[in-house]
Amino acid sequence: MQILKDVSLKPYQTFGLEVKSKALAIVNTKNEFIEVWNHPEFKNIQKLILGGGSNVLFTSDYEGLVIINKIQGREKIKETDEHVWVKFKSGEIWHESVLWMLEQGWSGVENLSLIPGTVGAAPMQNIGAYGVELKEVFDSLEAIELSTGNIVSFTAHECNFGYRESIFKNTYKNKYFIYSVTLKLNKKAVFHTEYGDIKAMLSEMNVSSETLNPQKISEAVIRIRQSKLPNPKELGNSGSFFKNPVIPNQQFEKLQKKYPDLKGYPAGEGLTKVAAGWLIEKTGWKGKRMGNCGSHAKQSLVLVNYGGAKGNEIYELALQIKKSVFDTFGIEIIPEVNII
Ligand code: EPU
Repeated sequence: MQILKDVSLKPYQTFGLEVKSKALAIVNTKNEFIEVWNHPEFKNIQKLILGGGSNVLFTSDYEGLVIINKIQGREKIKETDEHVWVKFKSGEIWHESVLWMLEQGWSGVENLSLIPGTVGAAPMQNIGAYGVELKEVFDSLEAIELSTGNIVSFTAHECNFGYRESIFKNTYKNKYFIYSVTLKLNKKAVFHTEYGDIKAMLSEMNVSSETLNPQKISEAVIRIRQSKLPNPKELGNSGSFFKNPVIPNQQFEKLQKKYPDLKGYPAGEGLTKVAAGWLIEKTGWKGKRMGNCGSHAKQSLVLVNYGGAKGNEIYELALQIKKSVFDTFGIEIIPEVNII
């Protein structure tokens, strides 16, 4: 195992910030993880586990130990005529795993193509895109209880998934390390093409109902994401910075009278999910630059580092956007990104 001291975190987070960590360990196995977690040298300092670093914003140097999860492995563990269960170690790259599943002829994850990060991070916030959430293909996970080193299994129900939520983001925050994730995939594809942009992209690709397959959906999703979302390798970012807020229907209807093109989607009884990107765009922040950072011109929900931005500069931008949205619409938007 590699342990580095006073190291730049630039390669380990997609915002590409010039921040340092007091120490950094790259772990390739469960035992390496346990060893470094319990290491006397790091016993009393704060620790942070990162996968792809695609959902964090460091507002200053990290005075602790960052652990980079590179634990690899994938295996088919069970099969029926209709389904297959595949267990991934948590350090596997999500998108590579999606492409691999599709190559095997197993579907269910095609709408979740090109999401940055690792498999282990996927259940943490129940990743979702283009009409599908992880929970729809999730079977179970194994996590290491950090206080004891014991491996504990969690079913989907026990993970308490919600929109960009799981038990590991609240009740069990910093209590477990997700070690493996088992997905239940379809052998006979069920298509999810209802999300607006997908249908349009499929027809642009000349895909008909006869030629439609999971690979084509994956390709359509990749094309849509590439057209809207900046590539972190070229422009530092963390995907959507804020969650889409969920408000009471009454409040939504009132706002819609004033703003007839306000975008909203049903979000459970009496609730509507509002497109944060739309709210931000309406306040005039879309494509606006503030110093070395700004709101992306093609998707206002994405904050970008134009190069050399400091984490607290991006955080300040986020606070200003949040305030504008609240002052204009009376809606509080909450970051999806973990602010460290
Ligand atoms: N919109 C605007 N202006 C903008 C951006 C969006 O008016 O600048 C409107 C669009 O016109 C559209 C609606 O908002 O009607 C929704 O936009 P989009 O389809 O781009 O999706 P989103 O709600 O902004 C969510 C996820 C994305 C995911 C897409 C596609 C969240 C916080 N974000 O974005 O996830 O890729 O849906 O399913 O739920 C991420 O989490 O990092 C992420 C990129």
